Amino acid sequence: MREILVAGNWKMNGSTAANAALISGIVSGVPEGSGFRLLVCPPLPYLAPVAEQLTGSNVALGAQNVSEHEAGAFTGETAASMLKDLGCEYVIVGHSERRAMYGETSAIVAAKFQAAQAAGLKPILCVGETLAERESGTTEKVINEQLDAVLESAGIDAFASAVIAYEPVWAIGTGMTATPEQAEDVHRHIRARLAKRNADLASRVQILYGGSMKGENAAGLLSMPDIDGGLIGGASLKASDFLAIAKAAART
Ligand code: PGA
Repeated sequence: MREILVAGNWKMNGSTAANAALISGIVSGVPEGSGFRLLVCPPLPYLAPVAEQLTGSNVALGAQNVSEHEAGAFTGETAASMLKDLGCEYVIVGHSERRAMYGETSAIVAAKFQAAQAAGLKPILCVGETLAERESGTTEKVINEQLDAVLESAGIDAFASAVIAYEPVWAIGTGMTATPEQAEDVHRHIRARLAKRNADLASRVQILYGGSMKGENAAGLLSMPDIDGGLIGGASLKASDFLAIAKAAART
């Protein structure tokens, strides 16, 4: 049975004081039960202090972005090895905000995915369609293009140590959550596409849902056979909201 991953994407939010309160709330409230794992992805400047606060807890640390380059003259960028050095286990790549606002193409995302893995980080590869794409019936085509860019360059075996997050762009930060059935349709499609290359591996890959996931809708989404967790933005900024999702994920 696949473990459920509940991942908080803090985006560009927080401060030293706010993060300390959030982490202590999360760490002290991790629900009883098994079969799930918690992960927080704070902004880059806070990775080190959050890593320190997480010491001794079972909450994992991740980053929100990474350079595709190894080292050198790339002002303002962060190498995967540096994230690893700070205690990160995961890094988000290809979030729709980065694709839309920072010109990250699927080729760049694939390069970031590989750079992360080369440094021993687990990439969380985000894929998802816009509302216009969904309405014009091209959801699967868009997902295929985003997924294939990585499959072609990194190969199917790379997905043994990667996570996929399906995040419909129209559901991110809008309060418009995909229904469990809408999400499951895409999750099943993603798994089937991986299974064409390696069925056994595809059955083990965690596929998270992201887009206005919260305590009230988490149980429904997580009950679907191909939904293995959540990538959570807004509801990851308040310990009680984040823990409500963790509670829905815990098997007791
Ligand atoms: P949201 O963000 O939960 O605020 O919709 C999810 C994400 O962008 O990862």
